[in-house]
Parts: sequence; structure tokens; C-alpha cells
Amino acid sequence: MALDLPDFPWDSLAAAKAKAQGHPDGIVDLSVGTPVDPTPRLLQETLAEAADAHGYPQVWGTPPLREAIAGWYARRRNATGVNPDGVLPTIGSKELVAWLPTLLGLGSGDVVAFPEVAYPTYDVGARLAGATPRPMRNLTEFGPEVPKLLWLNSPGNPTGQVLPVEHLAKVVSWARERGVIVASDECYAELDWREGAASPGNLTAPSILDDRVCGGDHTGLLSVYSLSKQSNLAGYRASFVAGDPAIVGRLVEVRKHAGMIVPRPVQRVLEVAVGDDEHVAAQKRVYAARRAMLRPALEKAGWRIDHSDAGLYLWATQGRPCRESVADLAELGILVAPGDFYGRAGEAHVRIALTATDERIQAAVTRLTTI
Ligand SMILES: Cc1ncc(COP(=O)(O)O)c(C=O)c1O
Repeated sequence: MALDLPDFPWDSLAAAKAKAQGHPDGIVDLSVGTPVDPTPRLLQETLAEAADAHGYPQVWGTPPLREAIAGWYARRRNATGVNPDGVLPTIGSKELVAWLPTLLGLGSGDVVAFPEVAYPTYDVGARLAGATPRPMRNLTEFGPEVPKLLWLNSPGNPTGQVLPVEHLAKVVSWARERGVIVASDECYAELDWREGAASPGNLTAPSILDDRVCGGDHTGLLSVYSLSKQSNLAGYRASFVAGDPAIVGRLVEVRKHAGMIVPRPVQRVLEVAVGDDEHVAAQKRVYAARRAMLRPALEKAGWRIDHSDAGLYLWATQGRPCRESVADLAELGILVAPGDFYGRAGEAHVRIALTATDERIQAAVTRLTTI
């Protein structure tokens, strides 16, 4: 039986990409969120030191790694009750997003819900399990038929919207009353630009495991996290999930059978990376500077920026179809992602990534402001 998966949307950007590549000063590619800055030296050295890895690694992660992640939640996320038994490293978080419904045993007749403008892999994960994907605007849309799994994504990709503590707390109590599992994808939490959060060293965007959100009770809750962005580790596939130890225990069991194991040297890098706030603060300063250049240039060029309170993207609109905006920017040699990649409600926006070098961001600013 063939799987009912969507077409890979990036193929539809080929013409805009070719156009942008033809710019005399070269393309400024702001379409994908792949980090361009080097992996911090500390982490590269850790990888080298951990290179001798002759034995099989632990699926569940080493005890020091799981303790370090629990410590990071307490220190950075105001989640003091994370039990190291409820922590599991994953091979990047895209892998977990795509397989969580399957690992939870969901299938035909089960609904997996996710934001109506969202990272496409929530939908893919539901389809891989044979479950029903359900984009949703808010929880009142559900009648008696509730989802088995509800995805949140805060800070959101592509919108950069941050869900406040009160909102998350309401979702948790709604889900608890109905026995719905909540998985919250939070990988941009350290890149929070809101007033008070913008200076490095401050706390992050709230987690579903935050004491103020769930009262320290993690039953039915999972926080999904990735170091790809904040630590420039996308190539390492260094991520984790934390929360309800009973659910995580089930995931560990299936993953043991399926051979879904984070390599031992990467487990060691993860452990060191979550223990070091300095490199994250330094990377945040780099993105803050790029954002401070690009955002006003877009506004000067007539764009409106919506949400974009955190994360690596500007969610921008000219109030017309996204494909027209993509084509206009391609004329300037700037490639961006059309909002329709993320759902129909994104049709009037484009997603503009901050993941380009300072030199390329400056090139984009010059082109936008000298029209
Ligand atoms: C919302 C969201 N979740 C998950 C991921 C996957 O990250 P990774 O697989 O690198 O951990 C991304 C990457 O862009 C993302 O934006």
C-alpha cells in the first residue's frame, strides 16, 4: 500500500531559486532555516574526544546525559520536576515529530492535531501512522471527538508566535480532562526576542513542562527539543524529548526494537551542550544583530511583519499571494519560503530566515532598501 504523503514542497521553488541565482551579486538564500555559523569549538572538541565508541550506545541515553537535560529544564525552562527517567535523546527532532504517532501506537481512526499554520512534519507523522491529520485553529473546534495527540509549537515555525504561560496552562487542563497527550515542539525557545527575554541570560519562551503551566505534574505531557538551531548542531542530529516517564518509557521500548539510537559521541556532545549556556547566548547575539538589520529593511520596503516574537524567521506579508511575493524577492536575488508550504492559512505570507551570514544579510538589506 502506497503511503499518502504530500509532494515535497521545496521542488516548487526551483524557478524562483534559478531567478535569484542569476542576480549579479549572487543569491541571498533565506528560504531554509539551516544554521550557517560554525559548530562551537567546545562541541567540536567534545565530539573528537568521544570518538572511541566501539560498543553500542544506550537507546535511552546515558544517565549523565539524562541528568544534564533535566538540569537544563530546571535552569533554563523553569521546569524543576523533570525526572531523568522521562528523558530520551532523539536523532534530531524531525525524526521524533515524524514517528511519534507511530511510536505511540496510533493508527486508523485516531486524530493527530496540530496548528493550522505549521511545520509540515506534524501532518507527515500522522500519515505515517495511518492516523488522521487535523490542522486546527483552536481547541473549541473539537466536539466530542478529540485527538489522541495534540501538537503545539511554541515559539512557532513559521510564525514566530510564542504561547504564554496562561495559554499553555489552559491547553494542559483541557487535554487532561480528555486524556489527550500533548507534545510541545519548543526548539526555538532560547531565541526569544520579546522585551525582557531578548537579553542573553534571561529565561526562555515557556515550556509545556514549566512549573507555572503544569504545576510540576508531567502526566500526558512531552516537551520536544532540538540543539540544531541554538548550538549549530543540525549536522549532528542532536535532540531530545522529556516529560511523562510512562510515555517516554514506551517510546524507549519501541525504539530499542527499531534501532533508533543516538550515536554515543553525539550523546556526549548533547550532554556538554546543555550544560553550557555561554555558546547559546553568543549565538543568540549573532541572530539578534541579523534580525535588527533585516526587519527594519523589510518594513521600509513595505512589508508587514506578523508575530515573529521568537525564533529564526520573519513572518512577512505584503497582503497579496505569497507566490507573487516570492517571485518579487527572487528578482532581487532573495529567496524566501512561501507561506503556503505551512498550510492554507499561510497563503498571504512568506517566511524569511535569519540563517544567512552577516555579509548575505547586509546584501539583502541593500537590495531591499535601494529599490
Ligand atoms: C518547529 C520545528 N520542529 C522541528 C524541527 C527539526 O529540527 P531537527 O530535526 O534539526 O532537530 C524544526 C527544524 O526546522 C522545526 O522548525
